[in-house]
Amino acid sequence: QTYRIVIPAAGAGKRMGADRNKLMLLLRNRSIIEWTLDVFEQDDQCLEIILAINPAEQTWFESITAQYETTIQLIPGGRERQESVRRGLAVITEPGIVLIHDGARPFVTLDAIHRVVAAAEVTGAAILAVPIKDTVKRVEQDRIVETVPREQLMAAQTPQAFQLETIRTVHEKAATEFLGTDDASLIEWDGGTVTQVTGQYENIKVTTPDDLVFGEAILTKRGK
Ligand code: CTP
Ligand code: MG
Repeated sequence: QTYRIVIPAAGAGKRMGADRNKLMLLLRNRSIIEWTLDVFEQDDQCLEIILAINPAEQTWFESITAQYETTIQLIPGGRERQESVRRGLAVITEPGIVLIHDGARPFVTLDAIHRVVAAAEVTGAAILAVPIKDTVKRVEQDRIVETVPREQLMAAQTPQAFQLETIRTVHEKAATEFLGTDDASLIEWDGGTVTQVTGQYENIKVTTPDDLVFGEAILTKRGK
């Protein structure tokens, strides 16, 4: 089951607190976005990558993407992740399965990718998610208001896989009406159904400086 993939990479990386886009930071002498692109370069099922970037970083991304055999289309991202994804989806010309994957999740495995693609082939929309490990509290000004029952809580990850027309249509509709923090939430907002596929805890989103340490540990564990 082949697919195309939109990778939003146009963020600023504010929570990382670095002096540049966090995707440019190195883990073992390879930038985070290269680790991410390497995974899809290795996947014969991946037909094309659409990489949404900040135009101010175009030259850097061109120098990075030149090494790949897979077709990588650089397109200008937007102010919000959702806008970056919407613009990426807009340039795809062929129908089929499309994946959306955070540039900041370099540790996703081919096995997890193929499982979410297979689920989307069947149901039209599927995401990777893992069970929450911590007890979750709702808090108002440092005061606990509620302990949220954990049994049904999952942490959403990417890739998220969809039939192109379904996700593209809902992104166009949501653009002026709804802002979500992932793409599945747009389908949910529109009344659609999304399937959960159990992912892996190692598929972290590199967000804060601690995640660079976790990332190095994951690479060590994998013998990279
Ligand atoms: N992203 C994007 N366009 C934006 C914002 C984010 O393409 N306007 C991308 C990021 O580059 C990242 C992914 O969406 O690969 C997930 O976002 P996040 O982890 O929040 O990254 P940043 O927005 O860069 O980080 P922060 O929120 O800490 O500023
Ligand atoms: Mg962000």
